[in-house]
Amino acid sequence: MPIRAVVYVSQPVVDLSFEHLESLVADAARFNRMAGVTGVLLHDGVRFVQYFEGPEDGVISVYERVLQSKSHTEIVELARGLVSARQFPYWSMHRLPADPLLVGQLARANWSRFKRSDQSSVPGSGWGIDLLAAAVAPHVAAA
Ligand SMILES: Cc1cc2nc3c(=O)[nH]c(=O)nc-3n(C[C@H](O)[C@H](O)[C@H](O)COP(=O)(O)O)c2cc1C
Repeated sequence: MPIRAVVYVSQPVVDLSFEHLESLVADAARFNRMAGVTGVLLHDGVRFVQYFEGPEDGVISVYERVLQSKSHTEIVELARGLVSARQFPYWSMHRLPADPLLVGQLARANWSRFKRSDQSSVPGSGWGIDLLAAAVAPHVAAA
């Protein structure tokens, strides 16, 4: 079954409280679990970068909820496409606090492919998927 993936950047609304963010992510994780969607949400305080993946119908309904949400604005899709296998199967959704530098790099990265590089110098490769994988890896190891 083909797996679809979406990655976007957005800005939280100014009055988004930490409590609302926590419940939003819990709600997202619950919905995604039912939809067979997995992914990760990076947040540096002023921006979100979210990557999610799953079957087409699940990804469409999750994306609809994301686009309807009043908790963020300026949603800019960085890429969407098909992946041969899940790249981030670890969480139905999980918020990772992130350094603004990393979030900026992810927003400007090359997302024209979702397949990870094989070479070991991935963080400097400029591919968004490699940057994201390198950022997520320590949290997976710690989980
Ligand atoms: C940054 C962000 C990421 C979200 N990710 C998901 C998601 O992965 N799955 C989902 O079902 N909903 C997602 N949502 C929607 C929320 O879970 C929640 O349903 C919605 O934000 C509630 O509506 P409100 O933000 O208008 O109060 C997301 C919303 C935001 C702002």
